[in-house]
Amino acid sequence: MTRLLVRDLAQLVTPAGDGAPLRGAAMGDVEVVGDAFVLCADGVIEAIGRMRDLGTLVGDVEEVDARGLCALPGLVDCHTHACFAGDRVDEFARRAAGATYEELHAAGGGILSTVRATRSASEDALVDATRRHAGWMRRHGTAFFEAKSGYGLDRQTELAQLRAIRAAGGAPTWLGAHAVAPEAKDAEAYVDYALAEVLPEAAELAEAADVFVERGAFDIEQARRYLLACRRAGLALRVHGDQFTELGAIPLAIEVGARSVDHLEATGPAGVRALAASDVVAVLLPASALFLGRPMPPARALVDAGAAVALATDFNPGSAFCESLPLVCSLACTQLRLSPAEALTACTVNAAHVVGRADRLGRLAPGFAARITLLDAPDWRYLAYHLGGDVVHSVVGA
Ligand code: NIG
Ligand code: FE
Repeated sequence: MTRLLVRDLAQLVTPAGDGAPLRGAAMGDVEVVGDAFVLCADGVIEAIGRMRDLGTLVGDVEEVDARGLCALPGLVDCHTHACFAGDRVDEFARRAAGATYEELHAAGGGILSTVRATRSASEDALVDATRRHAGWMRRHGTAFFEAKSGYGLDRQTELAQLRAIRAAGGAPTWLGAHAVAPEAKDAEAYVDYALAEVLPEAAELAEAADVFVERGAFDIEQARRYLLACRRAGLALRVHGDQFTELGAIPLAIEVGARSVDHLEATGPAGVRALAASDVVAVLLPASALFLGRPMPPARALVDAGAAVALATDFNPGSAFCESLPLVCSLACTQLRLSPAEALTACTVNAAHVVGRADRLGRLAPGFAARITLLDAPDWRYLAYHLGGDVVHSVVGA
């Protein structure tokens, strides 16, 4: 048995309680232990506590001297598009000069330009790119990530993306309905193709399915057909909704029993109420709103109404070229008016729930995976306080 002792931590912090997801006021409830340790055995947390309560350990124990550091549950990024080739830096410069994301998309750029680059990459190149991006995320404290396909839009590339994500250690989501493939007659014909030709194998490789509900992407009827077929194939469901327009993605997500509805920059009061009364998690992506100069999602209203909220980067080459969950937490506190505790809950236990792993990720507690994010900070709230800072010391166990 390999034991690991992380000792003399300035602080240890973990979401309170033992349920998941945490909603409403419970999201602000975290447990902080000063002068703390975490003891792990064979990749699992055995005990946490105060140094003064640590008894004598017999046998071989590897020790990590964590003086001046804080321990958080390994951060979970529950919404990324980390498997892609190429970049969109020219498009970024054009947006800086006034072009909008929607205009670039309508003109055949945007998502479709990354589709062209991803289709021309070999599977090995996709594995390398996804591993490289996972390394970036890890340097910013991410201990586990989800990543979506959706830059292939054909059978071969979508399946290659799902395999690449798995090879890079991520949880793969089949975003088969991200955009209409350029060669398809229309959105209906593309959904027919995706469900007939790609779903059978995608269902073997992916854990969840996702759809982009938006003008210029998929409407509610097409999204429902796609999601119900994916549910029958055994996949958990996610929805990209209310990013630019409120088209009914929230009622659809609730109707089909989705795990989450993500984005919500355009969500109004009725959507907030509906989500708060449901089991669907609101995944908020403030780095994407910032990157595109869009309104921020109604995070405060969602938490106050009793919803379960998660935070993620949306890391992708077009709408959020940002792999940093600490930066997302800073945006959550400065722009979304969440507290540091609510932000922490949102990218640990609630994000772990969204990726179906709340039984082993998202908390520092006995029985949970020994994945620990260490901050180079005297107080855990530096996670959000140190805006764009070099706040992550290391990730243990990922
Ligand atoms: O979540 N909105 C749709 N999809 C991604 C963006 C993908 C891209 O621009 O390449 C998002 O923002
Ligand atoms: Fe996204």
